[in-house]
Parts: sequence; structure tokens; C-alpha cells
Amino acid sequence: MAGEVQRGLEDVVALESQICFIDGHGGRLIYRGYDIRELAEQSTFEEVAYLLWYGRLPTRAQLDELRTRLARLREIPAELTGILDRIPKECAPMDVLRTAVSALAHFEPAETRPGASSIGGAQRLTAVLPSILGYFHRRRKGLPPLAPRPELGHAQYLLYALRDREGSELEGRALDIALILHADHELNASTFAARVTASTLSDLYSAVTSAVGTLKGPLHGGANERVMELLNECGTVDRVDAIVRGKLARHERIMGFGHRVYKVEDPRATILRDWSYRAGEAHHDLHYFELLRELERVVHREKGLYPNVDLYSGSVYTLLGIPSDLFTPVFAASRVVGWTAHVLEEYQDLRLIRPTAQYIGPVDLRYAPVDQRA
Ligand code: CMC
Repeated sequence: MAGEVQRGLEDVVALESQICFIDGHGGRLIYRGYDIRELAEQSTFEEVAYLLWYGRLPTRAQLDELRTRLARLREIPAELTGILDRIPKECAPMDVLRTAVSALAHFEPAETRPGASSIGGAQRLTAVLPSILGYFHRRRKGLPPLAPRPELGHAQYLLYALRDREGSELEGRALDIALILHADHELNASTFAARVTASTLSDLYSAVTSAVGTLKGPLHGGANERVMELLNECGTVDRVDAIVRGKLARHERIMGFGHRVYKVEDPRATILRDWSYRAGEAHHDLHYFELLRELERVVHREKGLYPNVDLYSGSVYTLLGIPSDLFTPVFAASRVVGWTAHVLEEYQDLRLIRPTAQYIGPVDLRYAPVDQRA
């Protein structure tokens, strides 16, 4: 007999995991036991990647080794650049990324090839994603390919790949923190997609391809780009109120607000609000920050909704000079760590993920030959 349907699998506990804990009522996010606020304050993206993959913070030697390894794995195989060269320049970068991750699997060296050590594949994908994004972005702008720049840390390399110049210390740190905040988030839709794929005993590259396709949607990773569109539509603080009320009256969603799990403010939004202000102050431009504060005020007053991670991230990326269609790919360049950590966990305690549906269509219809149908 069918049970009660939980639309969108809301509140369904699908599996056990040791990677990430969200306290939706307390507004806390924990990676492997560590509070996100402490990690954002004190750690780096590479340390967090190590933590998520291996379950513990690295020693100095382990961290240095991981940094060196990630820098060494940045090169894109020539066969893949050949494919990237044939993708129309107008294509959305998330679509390009999905194709690239899938194609990459064919050209990997033995140590990271699908089916080989999965941790190697996890590190390879994390290292190469910024190179793929940078390659495509530069090509569409008519610029020559990038050098892999092994001396740069992950965040600075990503910044360099997306805008062709290194960032200041503050800019590098702002992106590093954004990457830390996006690295994992329990069973979000894209991670769930990755785990479903892995649960069939499929390979890591296939799982990450599923995840990239899932992250792309505006209800998940694509929201921050839409937030910036809304801010640009508003233009000035005094227009926010009427525009938001108009959208809500038409039952449109305001991107960057609401969350399936958080019933209070998303702790990542709190940290990014601060960085939106800091980046704005450093660039002598608080235009977006002020619009966002007004947006928060109006949406909370009208709907009682709190900001999520996507509300402030776009303003930080814009100030860093990252084009808006690369915001979701930046999310992917961080979340790939969480996806792969979850896939590795899935492999360790594997059970095919296969829920059931409550059938609400007809039964007992009689088949009529095609010429006898009305
Ligand atoms: N704007 C307007 N109304 C909203 C919003 C919003 N952003 N979020 C929720 N609601 C309303 C919704 O219309 C519904 O109202 P009613 O009951 O009157 O029909 C009620 O709140 C519940 O909505 P729901 O869609 O059933 O709730 P959910 O748990 O499925 O929503 C969500 C989660 C993130 C899909 C939703 O809040 C949303 O669409 N937000 C905007 C998109 C966005 O910012 N996404 C980024 C999420 S955080 C990054 C990530 O982890 O992916």
C-alpha cells in the first residue's frame, strides 16, 4: 500500500551522512563537526576540501601536498580543448561545464580515469573546473588560453581564470570565503542527484555531470544571477518597494529568499552580507549593498522570508569583476568538493536509491487498434 506523498521529498530523511549538518531552526551549518562561521573566519578552501573528503582537518604537510596536487591537476587535455573549441560562444557556461565534465572522462590519465581511485577523480575535477571555465570564457572573448599558474591558490586561480588578472588580497579572500560557504550543503538537489547516480554504481564523472545539470536551475544554483537582474531592474532604493510588491502580487518568486531547510536566516547569507559590504567599501561602491538591504526589508515585511546564500553572493562576485553568467559555474567550482565527498560516502555504504511514486492515473483501460481510435 502506498504511503503519504511528501511532495519534493520535503522532510524525508533519505540516508545517513557524516559530512554536513544543517540546523534549520538554529541557523547553523556544520561541515564534519566544524561550524561554518569558524571555517569562514579561519580556514581556506583547500583546508575545507580536505576536511570534506577525508573527514578531518589537514596537517600543514597534508595541506601543502593537497595544494601542490590541485595545482598539478589544472591542465585541460588537448582533446577536451578541441571539443570546447567547437561549442558556440553564445552557449551558457553551465551547459558548457556539463558537457566538459562528461567529455573529460574520456581523456583522463590512468590515475584519475573513471573507475580508478575516486579521490583522485574528486581532486582532478576540483582542480580542472576553473581551467575549463577560464578556457571557455577567454575563447568567447577572443583571448588566448590561460597558463595554469601553479603558484596561485584555488580561489586566486579561479579569479584569474575568470577575469585575466589576479585579485588583491581582499578580493582573493572574499572569493575563498564564498567557495568555503558553497562547498557543501547536505542533501541539496544537485548533491542528491550525484548520490542517486552513484548509487547505481555509476562512476564519479557521471555523478558530477548529473549534479552540474541539476545545479543549473534557478531554484537551486541559478538564483544569484536573477538577484542581480532584479537589482538592476530596481536601479534605485526608492523603487524596490513597488517592484517587489508588484512581483509578489503576480505570484513571482523573489530570488535569494526562502529555503527548504532554514526557517531562520541562512548563516551563509549573514557572512556574505558582511563581505558584500566589505567588498563594496573597498571598491567605494555600496550601490548593490544598499539595494539588497532594502530588498531584505521589503521581502521580510511582505512575506516573512529570510535571505539565503544567493542573495548577497552575486553582489560580491560583481564587485570582483566576475560576469553574471559565471556565478553558477563559480558555485559548481566549489560544490564539486561536496558532490564528490558525498559520492565517495555513497560508494562506502551503497544502497540503490529508488523511491516509489503513488500512481494516480487510470488502470484497466482496454487497448484499441490504431484505426479504431476516436
Ligand atoms: N519568493 C516568494 N515567495 C516564496 C519564496 C520566494 N523566494 N520562497 C518561498 N515562497 C513562498 C511560496 O510561494 C509558497 O507560498 P504559498 O504557500 O503562499 O504558495 C511558500 O513560500 C512555500 O514555498 P515552497 O516553494 O513550497 O517552499 P520550498 O521549501 O520548496 O522553497 C525554495 C524553497 C528555495 C525553492 C524557495 O524558497 C524559492 O523558490 N526561493 C527562490 C529561489 C532561490 O533563492 N533559490 C536558492 C536557494 S539557496 C541555494 C541552494 O541551496 O540551492
